[in-house]
Amino acid sequence: MICLGIESTAHTFGIGIIDSNGKVLANVIDGYKTKSGGIVPNKAAEHHVDVCDKTIKKALDNANLTIKDIDLISYSASPGIGTCLRIGAMAARSLALLHNTPIIGINHCIAHLEIGRLLTNAKDPVLLYASGANTQIIAYEGEKYRVFGETLDIGIGNFLDSFARELEVGFPGGPLIEKYASKGKKYIELPYVVKGMDISFGGLLTNLKQKIKSGNHKKEDLCYSAQETIFAMLIEVSERALAHCGKNELLLGGGVACNKRLQEMAEQMCKERGAKSFAVPNQFNVDNGLMIAWLGLLQYKAGDRVNIEKAGIDPYRRTDQIKVTWR
Ligand code: ATP
Ligand code: FE2
Repeated sequence: MICLGIESTAHTFGIGIIDSNGKVLANVIDGYKTKSGGIVPNKAAEHHVDVCDKTIKKALDNANLTIKDIDLISYSASPGIGTCLRIGAMAARSLALLHNTPIIGINHCIAHLEIGRLLTNAKDPVLLYASGANTQIIAYEGEKYRVFGETLDIGIGNFLDSFARELEVGFPGGPLIEKYASKGKKYIELPYVVKGMDISFGGLLTNLKQKIKSGNHKKEDLCYSAQETIFAMLIEVSERALAHCGKNELLLGGGVACNKRLQEMAEQMCKERGAKSFAVPNQFNVDNGLMIAWLGLLQYKAGDRVNIEKAGIDPYRRTDQIKVTWR
């Protein structure tokens, strides 16, 4: 069985194609970009409309397939920006209707976790999901993926992008800050905000803005100190989730998981407690259609079915509201 997956929760329009053995056949990503790095929902949706057909065609060409070879269409139904999600759902419904293909709408956050389980040897990991808009610690317990901790305000990627904007270094902020941080030597003390299992970045961003304005600090040292602080916060709550759930695997996912320093800190923490840390190649960390295709297949094989008339979107549906039928 071959599934085509459509990702359109935010910036990215992505098409992935995968077979039921987990063989990756195509993964094409087309991102909406602005100079400032912000997102105007209507513009992002327009971008998705503009690139939809050519992205589908490119993915099919890369896989050496035609649309007739596709047995299942999967799309991101939740969570995300409504106007963006709607484009993916509409493309999925059109394909399903025209070609008489079954359709399935899935949860984007869980897709990050399932593609990680497929591409690494992780069996039952705690997921540290660190992306632009999302920052969550997720693990499987009692037939659901439970959120054990999360950001109380902005996502970690949005924090990095805003910090980069203040520093005037460009967009996307994460990789640029990583570059400056590697040259930083001096740790500047910053607010470290962990509340139980939750974390917060708002106060830290205000503090960094003041430090930039003061002109007393080197860009490199600020980037280094910011990274050390926020990643330590993530690693602390991840470690507590591992201990609480009695699990010994940590999986990194989301765009910020591309960061080598975060990967290194995760490996170090895991090593110290006899656990193992996993990360997937960058193209599967950022938002992508392949993970949507893979979760679609898992759910379909487990018997989940959606009527085409009911194949809608649910921008606010959370990870822990989905019943896991496929494990
Ligand atoms: P969502 O939050 O809906 O999952 P998104 O489009 O905001 O989607 P991703 O595509 O997962 O998120 O990731 C984008 C984020 O990852 C950006 O904020 C970017 O700055 C950050 N990022 C990318 N590479 C790195 C890196 N090397 N280090 C740190 N952050 C990075
Ligand atoms: Fe994502």
